[in-house]
Amino acid sequence: MACPTFKLNNGVDIPSIGLGTWQSKPGEVTKAVEYALKEAGYRHIDCAWAYGNEKEVGAGIRASGVPRSEIFITSKLWGTYHRKVEQCLDETLANLGTDYLDLYLIHWPVPLNPNGNDPVFPKLPDGTRDIDWEWKISDTWKQMEAVYKKGKVKAIGVSNFSEKKLEEILPTAEIVPAVNQLEIHLWNPQHKLMDYLKSKGILPQAYSPLGSTNSPLLQDETATEYAQKYGLQTADILLGYLIAKGIVALPKSVTPARIKSNFDGAVRAASKLTKEDIAKLDAVAPGGKQKRFIAPPWVIDLGFDNWP
Ligand SMILES: NC(=O)c1ccc[n+]([C@@H]2O[C@H](COP(=O)([O-])OP(=O)(O)OC[C@H]3O[C@@H](n4cnc5c(N)ncnc54)[C@H](OP(=O)(O)O)[C@@H]3O)[C@@H](O)[C@H]2O)c1
Repeated sequence: MACPTFKLNNGVDIPSIGLGTWQSKPGEVTKAVEYALKEAGYRHIDCAWAYGNEKEVGAGIRASGVPRSEIFITSKLWGTYHRKVEQCLDETLANLGTDYLDLYLIHWPVPLNPNGNDPVFPKLPDGTRDIDWEWKISDTWKQMEAVYKKGKVKAIGVSNFSEKKLEEILPTAEIVPAVNQLEIHLWNPQHKLMDYLKSKGILPQAYSPLGSTNSPLLQDETATEYAQKYGLQTADILLGYLIAKGIVALPKSVTPARIKSNFDGAVRAASKLTKEDIAKLDAVAPGGKQKRFIAPPWVIDLGFDNWP
């Protein structure tokens, strides 16, 4: 089944479904990526330096036999590298075994102390996160623009940026971010932020589209009703709802049957859901179900509504 693509603000096409790889263990992710590309039709893989499994993701990409040019690969700059974007990117490229990325994102608008007590999650003696307070994210964005201009990445964007955080980089940005990757799903649709992104030409990508670990959103009654109505699975409705709204969906799975059904089911659900269905699904969170699943204790106020 063909996967619809969306267009980024620089003209690059992006497949609307991508395989997530966070918490995919090194021992599982190679097979999951190989299967997704070779057997299930995926052409988009979502990675990050901080996931610690990019070498194994790269092995899966090569094992699939699908040409690099047909695959859309995203990775993300980690917080301890905000002062040295190209170094983090080079490590990712080496780990994945490729010489360019299709999309590179700032993972969080949170620069972390590069010389702290841990290379990934540096902490202060009191246990709180060790923030690099002197560094401005607008300067991180300048370095993102530099690696884009060098041709090492085909598009640049951000992740976990609220309107407030985007307003910290946009006034001095030469290039508007192509993407903002966020926790977006039935219970955290962030309608206001979606409207803002649209007004700026920034494409939203939905992470944790099933509610993250153990997919708690599969219990949602409204999504389950639509699944029964259309003879689909609840996961299909959750994913198809996003795609129908023009949002890239990034479901993670290491289970072959789920990898395949998420892809086929999402495309089917996106084509079946009507405007009225979408309006009802849009009303689920404002109707009392609002919930975020991913909210690390960053210390910095990220400026999001409904941050727990
Ligand atoms: N930018 C960021 O800060 C950020 C943050 C979080 C996530 N992400 C990205 O977004 C991706 C997806 O988010 P996520 O991993 O948090 O969660 P998710 O995709 O919402 O859910 C993953 C969970 O759902 C299970 N699952 C998948 N398909 C299923 C199905 N059809 N039926 C039942 N269970 C199913 C998976 O289990 P199995 O794997 O065992 O099948 C896993 O436990 C990540 O992997 C990552 O690439 C980015």
